Amino acid sequence: MTVTTRKRVAILISGRGSNMMALVEAACMPSYPAEIVAVISNRPQAAGLTWARDQGLKTVSLDHRDYASRESFDEALHQKLIGTGAQLVACAGFMRLMSPKLVDRWHNAMINIHPSLLPSFKGLDTHKRALTAGARITGCTVHIVRPKMDEGPILGQAAVPVLDGDTPELLAERVLAAEHRLYPQILSLFAANQYNIDQDVAHLKAEYIEGSTLFSPEL
Ligand code: GRF
Repeated sequence: MTVTTRKRVAILISGRGSNMMALVEAACMPSYPAEIVAVISNRPQAAGLTWARDQGLKTVSLDHRDYASRESFDEALHQKLIGTGAQLVACAGFMRLMSPKLVDRWHNAMINIHPSLLPSFKGLDTHKRALTAGARITGCTVHIVRPKMDEGPILGQAAVPVLDGDTPELLAERVLAAEHRLYPQILSLFAANQYNIDQDVAHLKAEYIEGSTLFSPEL
């Protein structure tokens, strides 16, 4: 893929930022169709913010506790995003619900990663809930953000097996490793305009190459 103009991407985080790091590292490749123009956190103490600053990236700390309402925080966040010149927003462990107004302002331009195979296990504690439900396969999803939490056109998914003896922590680690591979790949396709969105379903423009099937337990 020849990259002429790279899409300007701002990343939103709230904590450790390991997905943000995976995106930043991928975007170091000159052929990657997106550049990371800023990392914004609603938590000033987020470890990911320190890492991003150390990389020389523009960082913004916007403490939601300084705002009287969700709407006023979202307005400030929107202004910060505009200020970075971002064309796309990638949420990476951003633990804040957004008001519909903010989501609509970034319609089809804001994506998120969620640690389950959506539409299963929306919300928090996904790994614990997958274990309790006895799921044999779980994974992660990158999707376009819509006003309802963890909804929106699915851009990509990765599946991992649930293994006997798994704890939520062990499962989270296995899924996280898949997240770090999936998110950079999907941001690349999204930034390179490789999706058509039709009736709120995302279709990949490129030819579909059949992948392998994951069986759990193995056949
Ligand atoms: C990831 O599991 C992500 O899917 C979820 O929150 C976690 C964030 O981890 N939304 P990190 O901050 O990217 O390390």
